Amino acid sequence: MKCRVNPSYMEQLYSFYSPFYDWVFGKLLEPGRRRAFHYLDRRPHQRILEIGIGPGSTLEKYPPYTNLVGIDISSAMIEEAQKKAAQLNGGSTFDFQVMDAANLEFPDNHFDAVISAYVITTVQDPRKVCREILRVVKPGGQIMVINHTRSPNGGLLGKIEDIVAPVCVRIGFTTDLDVIRVMREVGMNVNRAVKCNLMNTGRIIMATKES
Ligand SMILES: C[S@@+](CC[C@H](N)C(=O)[O-])C[C@H]1O[C@@H](n2cnc3c(N)ncnc32)[C@H](O)[C@@H]1O
Repeated sequence: MKCRVNPSYMEQLYSFYSPFYDWVFGKLLEPGRRRAFHYLDRRPHQRILEIGIGPGSTLEKYPPYTNLVGIDISSAMIEEAQKKAAQLNGGSTFDFQVMDAANLEFPDNHFDAVISAYVITTVQDPRKVCREILRVVKPGGQIMVINHTRSPNGGLLGKIEDIVAPVCVRIGFTTDLDVIRVMREVGMNVNRAVKCNLMNTGRIIMATKES
């Protein structure tokens, strides 16, 4: 990733988006979310962490009796997620906290699964965030990242993604980050990447932590 993401700019931007996020980005990115949740282990009573939970666009997709912890750097987003959770009645518990995904305040090996939907390309240090995800998930636990990932080197699309990255960063995400590569570099065992969203621009990336 060559295009720098400024965390305080992102925090302010997503707070500004929070009241109408669901109607714009929320709807556009919904096919990826919907499809991704088919791959989530449906066992009840799992302790799951979702980083960058935004206004809670995924909440109703969790299996009943999930113990969900949702974090986001934007308190306005967390408030929206809390409002949404208050309307749900699937036996799950929800704990929302304002927190930076690069400094997760949880012990090692704490969660059965960690989910990240469209977050890795919005953070300043994606490697640090991925290392944190790997640290807090249990050995053998499920890691699911839904995101755009830069096309491989050498292709025209990758070059276009590099060119448009500075513009995209202004609206909230970068396009020049090879997310799958970062996940592998920090030691995640990436076992599958499924195409999703408009023109197959997204990937549902499934990984585990070695037992
Ligand atoms: C593109 S939105 C995705 C929201 C939601 N996950 C979804 O499925 O649409 C990115 C979210 O990540 C949050 N975010 C950005 N940087 C973060 C960080 N360092 N730590 C935690 N959350 C962060 C933003 O506030 C925003 O809610």
